[in-house]
Amino acid sequence: MKLIVAVIQPEKLPDVKQALFEANVTKMTVSNVIGCGQQMGYTESYRGAITEVNLRKKVRIEIAVNDNFMQPAIDAIIKGARSGNIGDGKIFVTELYECIKVRTGESGSMAI
Ligand SMILES: Nc1ncnc2c1ncn2[C@@H]1O[C@H](COP(=O)(O)OP(=O)(O)OP(=O)(O)O)[C@@H](O)[C@H]1O
Ligand SMILES: [Mg+2]
Repeated sequence: MKLIVAVIQPEKLPDVKQALFEANVTKMTVSNVIGCGQQMGYTESYRGAITEVNLRKKVRIEIAVNDNFMQPAIDAIIKGARSGNIGDGKIFVTELYECIKVRTGESGSMAI
């Protein structure tokens, strides 16, 4: 199992959600977050002296998947989120140790 965490531009959430749906990935947790990447939250046109990072509004999507859904989910996120501009987002993937469904007590790939 894998845990996919994607941080994307908020306005791309509808497109990412649709692309995930088309890839049969329908379970997710979405949060509003703030963050910055390598531009430290400033645009290329920024001319002032940077003394601290500038945190911008982003959307964070968490998706736990069985291994065979990892690549389709990643492809869907990229399809929905990519504009080609800086700040398009990032996807992090980690091994997921366990998943337990509270209602049934099922665990592992059955629970996802
Ligand atoms: N190394 C990181 N650790 C944690 N969060 C990150 C990291 N890199 C990016 N993020 C999160 O992802 C968001 C989007 O990152 P962003 O797309 O700007 O990455 P980037 O490395 O600056 O690439 P680009 O040059 O294309 O903008 C950031 O605002 C931040 O919330
Ligand atoms: Mg950036």
